[in-house]
Amino acid sequence: MTKNQTNSTLGNSKKKANNAPKLDRGFAGQDIISVSQFSRENLEHIFAAAERMRTTVKEQGAADTLKGSVLACLFYEPSTRTSSSFIAAMSRLGGTVIPITQGVQFSSVSKGESLPDTIRTLESYADVIVIRHPEMGSAQMAADYARKPIINGGDGIGEHPTQALLDMFTIKEELGRIDGLTVGMVGDLRYGRTVHSLARLLCLYDVQFKFVSPEILRLPLDVMNDIRDHGVAVTETYDVAEIISDVDVLYVTRVQKERFADLSQYEEVKDQYVITPELMEHAKEKMVVMHPLPRVGEISYHVDSDPRAAYFRQMENGMYIRMALLAAVLGRA
Ligand code: NCD
Repeated sequence: MTKNQTNSTLGNSKKKANNAPKLDRGFAGQDIISVSQFSRENLEHIFAAAERMRTTVKEQGAADTLKGSVLACLFYEPSTRTSSSFIAAMSRLGGTVIPITQGVQFSSVSKGESLPDTIRTLESYADVIVIRHPEMGSAQMAADYARKPIINGGDGIGEHPTQALLDMFTIKEELGRIDGLTVGMVGDLRYGRTVHSLARLLCLYDVQFKFVSPEILRLPLDVMNDIRDHGVAVTETYDVAEIISDVDVLYVTRVQKERFADLSQYEEVKDQYVITPELMEHAKEKMVVMHPLPRVGEISYHVDSDPRAAYFRQMENGMYIRMALLAAVLGRA
């Protein structure tokens, strides 16, 4: 093997720190790699578009805004909501999809094709590519090679920007505002990419954080430093009961089993937090419980009928946000 060769699917690594540009000149033709690209104005623009998408879906079911456009969905990791909501979003706007979602093993990736070559291939057929990949930095790498817009659908333990957009949209829809809120984040703050993106995006607003995790799953230092740089107040605890009555948003996450090198450590922490109706008795009357899903026991099914349980509405919002984003990056907003 020469210096530049690698056996990673990332190919000859051109991996750099995130350098996706800010979206201050609009979304058309842009990559969506990190929440650091977004301003409050960008968010307001996408939220307003998502509202219109919801109305279109409720009133007409579909539109032909993206008629003739093609989305490639390239998923190297499992997905239900992200992949199917992107597919539904494209379909409801009249576009079509190349779905490499359930079977990267059936594509040339299983023959050892590198990520850059797979991206070059898909961009000759599609107008926009959504990628989910287990390695942090993979979406940025895909963007470095691609001429067409790349959307990050989750890069390992890095970021999941479109999830953060739909999370923020949900908070705004449910509570009517984001400024002034206290946000509790519970569970796997170390490996949970949705937490990393949402925490960073919330820093554009006047919020406070209360983080709850086992010691080994505390928020990574780089995310914590970003939060502190924004001057946002933070507390950390191991006990969800300590913060439940203070929070306006309780963002619960799954322990990310697939990221553990030592599964005995996973076993130790996997059932640490369960949100139950008894715990919810101590929560504010007006607050929301959110979860990016899938849940694997962190929220009791008995909480589902509580009006404060927003996770299924949150999931539905994903499609409207992704409709808005696809129309925006394809210049048809
Ligand atoms: C999340 C993910 O993939 O990071 N799922 C999702 O996209 N809704 C959360 C998770 O898998 O725990």
